[in-house]
Amino acid sequence: MINKPKLDIVTLCGSVRKESYNAALVRALPAIAAGDLVFREGPSVADIPIYDGDLESISGFPSAITALAGLIREADGVIIVSPEYNYSVPGGLKNLLDWVSRTPNQPFAKKPVLIQSVSGGPLGGARMQHHLRQILVFLNARIFARPEVMIGPASAKFSAEGVIVDAPTREAVRTQLAEFSDYIREFRI
Ligand code: FNR
Repeated sequence: MINKPKLDIVTLCGSVRKESYNAALVRALPAIAAGDLVFREGPSVADIPIYDGDLESISGFPSAITALAGLIREADGVIIVSPEYNYSVPGGLKNLLDWVSRTPNQPFAKKPVLIQSVSGGPLGGARMQHHLRQILVFLNARIFARPEVMIGPASAKFSAEGVIVDAPTREAVRTQLAEFSDYIREFRI
């Protein structure tokens, strides 16, 4: 553990709600992780226009997408934290991924990616994770498999202020982040 070189991690969040549980999890990650991970938040999915091939042809990529693609290319890994909407990936997040997938030197290719989810229901966003994995397969990402983090029901695991109050949940996140760190380092040898 001591003197491990730091790893740069980009986080993306599928919810734009002010009191989003998923955004709360993103904010909690630095305090939960061991000191070897450095987190940088990607743009809000609300700031990305709907993917439009005409817009891409005429104006090129939105500046937020060009910047994000660069961040991901330079990062050691990506963590996507998202709710489940109607058993799947929220539209805003899918839209962001669709834009990024169009950028040159597609940045998710061979990039280690970890998925986390929080939902109001007891399955914790499991079905969203399954769909997101399918998308990331097409992008040729190195999708971290297990342990999985699917947190639900959110109201039983977070306080009203958005703090994770359930100790086993914090521990599960800590363990997963440590394993993700090892997973990334396996590719760097
Ligand atoms: C939901 N929610 C939800 N939950 C779930 O477990 N499975 C689902 O399929 C859905 N579908 C769904 C669709 C839409 C449009 C909304 C708005 C919500 C509930 C969802 O888990 C809950 O609202 C979370 O709190 C949303 O995450 P944030 O915004 O708190 O991060």
